[in-house]
Amino acid sequence: MESEIGFGVVGLGMGAHHAKAVSYAEGARLVAVCDVDEGRLRKVASEYGVKAYRNYEDLLADPEVQVVNICTPSGMHADMGIKAVRAGKHILVEKPPDVTVEKVDKLIDAVRRAGVKAGVTFQSRTFPLNRRIKAAVEEGRLGRLIGVNAWLPWWRARSYYEGPHGSWKGTWTLDGGGSLMNQGVHTVDLLQWIVGPVRSVMGRYGAFAHDIEAEDTTVAILSFSCGAVGTLMTTTCAYPGLPQMVLLYGENGTIMKEEDTLKVWRIRGGREEEGEMLRLYGPRRKEGATTASDPMAVGSAGHRWLVEDMVRAVREDREPYITLESARHAVEIVTAIYQSSRTGREVFL
Ligand SMILES: NC(=O)c1ccc[n+]([C@@H]2O[C@H](COP(=O)([O-])OP(=O)(O)OC[C@H]3O[C@@H](n4cnc5c(N)ncnc54)[C@H](O)[C@@H]3O)[C@@H](O)[C@H]2O)c1
Repeated sequence: MESEIGFGVVGLGMGAHHAKAVSYAEGARLVAVCDVDEGRLRKVASEYGVKAYRNYEDLLADPEVQVVNICTPSGMHADMGIKAVRAGKHILVEKPPDVTVEKVDKLIDAVRRAGVKAGVTFQSRTFPLNRRIKAAVEEGRLGRLIGVNAWLPWWRARSYYEGPHGSWKGTWTLDGGGSLMNQGVHTVDLLQWIVGPVRSVMGRYGAFAHDIEAEDTTVAILSFSCGAVGTLMTTTCAYPGLPQMVLLYGENGTIMKEEDTLKVWRIRGGREEEGEMLRLYGPRRKEGATTASDPMAVGSAGHRWLVEDMVRAVREDREPYITLESARHAVEIVTAIYQSSRTGREVFL
C-alpha cells in the first residue's frame, strides 16, 4: 500500500473544513494544524488528535507535513505560499490565490522554482453540474455563445465584518475587496472556466449596507474573447440571501442554474438530454442553510475532491486539477472590474 501524504492546515476558519476534508480523503493524513488564535487551534487539534502549531515556521519545519493548505486571510496567501514552497512543501491555497495579479505571479514563480505542486480551492469546478455545463459549451452545443450572466444576491450580517475574524473582511489589503473578490470570485472563476477568457470589463461598486472599506455590491459588464457579452452582479446586501444564478445562452439554446440546481437546459434537438439533465440536477427540496446567507455552510465534498486530487498529483508527479496559473485570470478579472469602477473607464485585460 502506498503511504499516505501528510497535510498541515494553516488558518482554522475555513481551514477547519479543510481539516475535515483531509481527514475523510483517501490517501491523505492530517498531521498538524496551525493558527495564531489559541482557541481555534486547540479545538481543531484536539478534534483530530494532531499536532498544534501557533507559529507558521514550526509547521513548515515539520518533516511529516508534505502539503500545506493555506486558509489564512486572502492577502496573506502568496507570502505564506512562497514560504511553504521554499521549505519544499506542496500547497493547496484557498481562493482567491491572493488579491493582486502581481502577488499571484510571484507565487507562481516561486512554485516553478521550487518544483512543487500548487492547487487552488475553486471547488465549484469540481461540481458535476458545472462540469456538464462546461462540456456542453466546449462541445459547441449552444452554438455561438451570446449571453453570459451571473448574479450573486447574497447576504451577510454586519457582524460578519466585525471581531478578530471579521475585521479583515471587506478591506482592500487583506480581502482584496468585498462581495466581488471574497464571495463573487468563485462565480467569476466559474464563468471564465466555462466560457474562456474575458477581454474587457466595465464596473461599478459601492458599500451600501455595511461599514467596510471596500464594497458590498458590484455590477459589471464583461466582454469575452469568444465574442459573448456578459453581466455580473455580486452583493452581500440582499437579505436573506438568495442562490447564485447563472444564465448562458447561445444561437442553439439556453442553460440556467441556481447554485447546483439546474433550472433550464434547452438545446435545439436535445429533448432527451434535457429530461436526463433535469432528472440528475433539477429542482428538489433542500434542507438547511446555504452559503447565500451562512458563510460556514460550505460543503466539504469539493474540498475533499481537491485534497484527493492533490494526493494523486504528488504521487503521479502531475499538475493538480486546478493550477495557480488557471486561477490567475479570476483575480485579473476582479481587479480589472475594481479598476474600471474607480476610473469610470473600460479596462482591457
Ligand atoms: N472555498 C471556499 O468556499 C471558501 C469559503 C470561505 C472562505 N474561503 C477563504 O478562506 C480564507 C480564510 O477565510 P475565513 O473566512 O476562514 O477567515 P477567518 O478569519 O475565519 O480565518 C482565518 C484564520 O487565519 C488565522 N491566521 C491569520 N494569520 C495567521 C498567521 N500568520 N498564522 C496562522 N494563522 C493565522 C486567523 O487567526 C484565523 O483563524 C480566505 O482566503 C477566504 O477567501 C474560502
